[in-house]
Amino acid sequence: MRTALLSLTFLLAGSMAAPAFAHTAAPKKKVTATTKKGKILPMKEYIDQLMAKMTLQEKIGQLNLMVAGDITTGGALDTQVGSDIAQGNMGGVFNIKGLDKIKALQEIAIKNSRLGIPLLVGMDVIHGYETMFPIPLALSCSWDTEAMKKVGEVSAKEASADGINWTFSPMVDIALDARWGRISEGNGEDPYLSGVMGAAMTQGYQGVDMRTEEILRANRIMACLKHFALYGGVESGKEYNTVDMSRVRMMNQYLPPYEAVVKAGVGSVMSSFNLIDYIPATANKWMMTNVLRKQWGFSGFVVTDYASIAEILQHGTAKDIQEASEQALKAGTDMDMCSNAFVKHLAKSIAEGKVSEEDVNIACRRILEAKYKLGLFSDPYRYCNTKRSKSEIYTAENRQAARDVAAETFVLLKNEGNILPLKKEGKIALIGPLADTRNNIAGTWSVAQVPSKYTTIKEAMEHALAGKATLLYAQGSNIWRNQELQKNGESGKPINWGNEAEMKAEALKIAKEADVIVCAMGESAEMSGECGSRTNLEMPDVQRELLAELLKTGKSVVLLNFAGRPTVLTWEKAHVPAIMNVWFGGSEMGDALCDVIFGDKSPSGKLTTSMPKTTGQEPLYYNHQNTGRPVADDNEKFAKFASNCLDVSNGPLYPFGYGLSYTYFSYSNFRLSSQEAGISNEEATEWQDGKKITASVTIKNNGSRDADEIVQLYIRDMVASISRPVKELKGFQRIHLAVGESKEVSFDITPDMLKFYNADLKHVIEPGDFQIMIGTNSKDVKTMKLSVK
Ligand code: NOJ
Repeated sequence: MRTALLSLTFLLAGSMAAPAFAHTAAPKKKVTATTKKGKILPMKEYIDQLMAKMTLQEKIGQLNLMVAGDITTGGALDTQVGSDIAQGNMGGVFNIKGLDKIKALQEIAIKNSRLGIPLLVGMDVIHGYETMFPIPLALSCSWDTEAMKKVGEVSAKEASADGINWTFSPMVDIALDARWGRISEGNGEDPYLSGVMGAAMTQGYQGVDMRTEEILRANRIMACLKHFALYGGVESGKEYNTVDMSRVRMMNQYLPPYEAVVKAGVGSVMSSFNLIDYIPATANKWMMTNVLRKQWGFSGFVVTDYASIAEILQHGTAKDIQEASEQALKAGTDMDMCSNAFVKHLAKSIAEGKVSEEDVNIACRRILEAKYKLGLFSDPYRYCNTKRSKSEIYTAENRQAARDVAAETFVLLKNEGNILPLKKEGKIALIGPLADTRNNIAGTWSVAQVPSKYTTIKEAMEHALAGKATLLYAQGSNIWRNQELQKNGESGKPINWGNEAEMKAEALKIAKEADVIVCAMGESAEMSGECGSRTNLEMPDVQRELLAELLKTGKSVVLLNFAGRPTVLTWEKAHVPAIMNVWFGGSEMGDALCDVIFGDKSPSGKLTTSMPKTTGQEPLYYNHQNTGRPVADDNEKFAKFASNCLDVSNGPLYPFGYGLSYTYFSYSNFRLSSQEAGISNEEATEWQDGKKITASVTIKNNGSRDADEIVQLYIRDMVASISRPVKELKGFQRIHLAVGESKEVSFDITPDMLKFYNADLKHVIEPGDFQIMIGTNSKDVKTMKLSVK
């Protein structure tokens, strides 16, 4: 454990026999002391002593988290939030930007509150701070864990330089239904991939495993795993809707990514808005305590989502807010975000004997431990460094990192006649409502973004083409034909509203002059994200109609599809020669796009969600069960009395794991080191006799460009005590191959990869036959059999 020097007077008496102040009058003077060596005490001792001096209300105050409102530096103490902090009624604040304001609040906590306990300062730093990375769904399409770590690191570096010590990220909710807007905030439909990516991001944010007592460095921040749990399972993809699923499904499909992030040492967890077994997650003891703490060993603290305790009343499972707060605390929820419920009602509940003071002590200790690990007790201003704030945000280095990562997230869906990459020559027409917007490129959840610093796609292309080719530009259309719909998807990020006919005419005019047309179309930033559910995932009519007109010119057309979810591109696939899904690529998206469009880099992103042919196919996911009357995904013909629909065949338009490159890779020589293995019992973690089983394949770059490929390993359990998915991702590797180069890629097949939660919720491997598959996406795989005895 690293120790740090004591600095200020807020520290506590080193005396071992500190008097308990709970329920007693507050002493007038602050208790101050250092240890003999001038070092902070070990965590337990330190917090024991601190808590011994806290009144019950002060302990409850630590469980309270509020937004800071509109504070001004000079008058912070006179605001509600300022006086709450001074009275010891606040453990943390969130979503306040500006070092001066944060410092002003921290000063109140240190100087004006009785015990000078520093504040947690949270923010939704979801995919970057001022340097914005692509939205999380896009990031997951990089399948690049090092990149994910980098995103965490850079985000932490910038946020911590600006006073933030806690982020509400990563979000690893499995989302199978693209109608849900928050699919944009997670890593897609696969539990394994989502867990690996979430764990990498957490390591990037924190730099340490917060299950240990190691103090975070001052340029790292605490992560918060969310939304625990199952939020992505909302019925019909409608925001905040009911979730209902079997525990077997939870354990096998929805919970693994959360567990992976807990095992990566995340410091905090956020409870979700939804019901779990018809009990609101925030009040669900089985999930918050049994699963999270007892089963997975989580030792940090649980914060609610925004006003989730108050929402227990709407769910109809508590008669009033006092009862709701009792339920939440007893379930294992430690901190109340914005319901003001703990701080107002817990003392009364304790006096009435409805909750025990010990439950408050436990929650308070967990929050103080987080503060200790953040180094706040050693130096409460370690995140308030003006020099860092001026020099470490939106730096050239951070921007380069965002540009490099963004280039890995674009997914090339179609490239007929190798239209892409484009040559920097002639006349290029750039058309579409997303082409020249500064405030939309970062996508949803970009709380700290500063669009005025960013470059639009148009500006980036002008720069890339300067002196070589001519860029013609027209907005071409609105996002929607209906202005009210456009406004619904703006949320403070407006896109210019113009006259439809005039915009179209201007677009057609430049299209006719151009050699090639690049369309920047699709969703606006806030058409996904929180409260961004849609019932029709096709491109809005007004844009689709313009696209059709542009195609009629007979020119080559490239569609850059902006999306916060897998949208429906069936018409586009049939008509547009080149399509690249570009999501929302962050602050450096323009330059990153130019790197790829003009061929300095080859696209390498692969889908982490199945793309549907129609909205009615949702929820759609590759790792589904077989049903008793299965129809092969690629069977285009309707089969009566089988599991399919009359009008659209089962498979996706583009499968999970799919994405093209400017080069071509061949897969050959797929082999298993052995096709048989033994286990000693169903919980075995090793093969019998220490056997090692390896699946290998040779991959060659047969094209004319150096490029990255993402090699994917899938497994299917053919017969088990419960029905198992038709395939599940169990490993992947991102490799780089120069032109003509071949590489052998190997995966160790371990018993753990073959395990699942059975009907008794035991994690077991059952003997029998397994299919081991390797391929370039979830559909195009080579298969071999492994028999386990
Ligand atoms: C509500 C959202 O669900 C959550 O993701 C976010 O972190 C909190 N609000 C705080 O802004």
